Amino acid sequence: MARMGAAFEFPPGFLWGSATSAYQIEGSPLADGAGAGIWHRFAHTPGMVADGDTGDVACDHYRRWRDDVKLMRELGLRAYRFSVAWTRVLPEGRGRVNAAGLDFYERLVDCLLEHGIEPLPTLYHWDLPAALDDRGGWLNPDVAHWFADYASVVCRRLAGRVKTWATLNEPWVVADGGYLRGTLAPGHRNRFEAPIAAHHLLRAHGAAVQAYRAEGRHAIGLVVNLEPQYPASDSDADLAAARRVDAYVNRQYLDPVFHGHYPPELHAIFGDAWPAWPQADFDLIGQPIDFLGINYYTRGVTRHDDGAWPLQATAVRQPVPCSETGWEAYPRGLADALAWLRDEYGNPPVYITENGSAFHDPPVRDGTLDDPLRADYLRRHLRALHGAIAQGCDVRGYMVWSLLDNFEWSFGFSRRFGIVHVDFATLQRTPKASARLYSRIIAGNGRALAED
Ligand code: FCB
Repeated sequence: MARMGAAFEFPPGFLWGSATSAYQIEGSPLADGAGAGIWHRFAHTPGMVADGDTGDVACDHYRRWRDDVKLMRELGLRAYRFSVAWTRVLPEGRGRVNAAGLDFYERLVDCLLEHGIEPLPTLYHWDLPAALDDRGGWLNPDVAHWFADYASVVCRRLAGRVKTWATLNEPWVVADGGYLRGTLAPGHRNRFEAPIAAHHLLRAHGAAVQAYRAEGRHAIGLVVNLEPQYPASDSDADLAAARRVDAYVNRQYLDPVFHGHYPPELHAIFGDAWPAWPQADFDLIGQPIDFLGINYYTRGVTRHDDGAWPLQATAVRQPVPCSETGWEAYPRGLADALAWLRDEYGNPPVYITENGSAFHDPPVRDGTLDDPLRADYLRRHLRALHGAIAQGCDVRGYMVWSLLDNFEWSFGFSRRFGIVHVDFATLQRTPKASARLYSRIIAGNGRALAED
């Protein structure tokens, strides 16, 4: 068990940082020879994103990255999780490398290191090159090798400087939003496609880990979102419904990586759409990884519902105040998820790669903005995290989502998760009170969590 001193002090070397992703903050998606990605196409299709928002400008980080790194330094961040846009590095997704794209991420990594901030890149945060989508995208079995080749190009260039790599961000959201429900790019709504996309995402992850091992000496892992499921009652039907959702959201991705098979509930959920996969695929998917990234936002309370397609389960909204995305703040769920990982999956080293909340913020006044709800969310989740570490969960770091208010996918700019406010008219950055709190927490390695 980690040895910790004063109340809320975190283990020595605990990595404190913040997270973003390429399409959500960079802007200039086609600059300097980059190819279009599926989010560029999706956002430019009327009706797909709230208010017709796009990532054309976003936070203009592609041009303001130096100032953003300075800001991270001022806030005292020790780590920064960002994603690499595949489309900048390989405009057609495979083949020709675009030097300007690689240069951009190299400069960013060097600048972070100069400022004493550890870079934590994710290779895929939802922005598949459109040219690959034209060939079937995540439905085409070849995508695993396209992704591994891309991973090799990036890892080779940044080898030695980057010590912690993530392959995919939240494959569940990619398959569910992109291929089952159609709310995210590429916008398909197809029960037959979703399990295929999920499987090739996992194969791509495995192939990238394998490619990295051929040349990289450091750590590589996978980022999943975990949403622990609690039955709405103790009826057998609700218990089974919660297990189905747990299998679909959480275990669909962890079981193949750690146990070499899919959870049996998936067959029942997908019925005739559930494919049989060769053993060789599971050998690829099950490559040993060095850590697991966990994105945690909320829990699910689930009841059986015959009419709910395709899981026969419905989420029951709790009678408590929720965030602007309608998510309940439930810090205990983070501790429960970590305890479950410890007990069911061999307690892998974990980074919390995302955790945060969107609230309606008051206007900036006198150079700051008071966001007590976000500060409270942060404080309560970090206390729960501290408790989980005290219970033996092997957590190495925490990245708040997000550094900046940004393009929140189909919500556009209407949901603000940043600890730094962005005025989308002037692009000015203003740290919110939650950022100041987070700075104090980092400076004392957690001790400020003892304050009210
Ligand atoms: C996660 C995504 C991240 C952001 C947060 C709010 O699912 O990984 O990009 O949208 O949700």
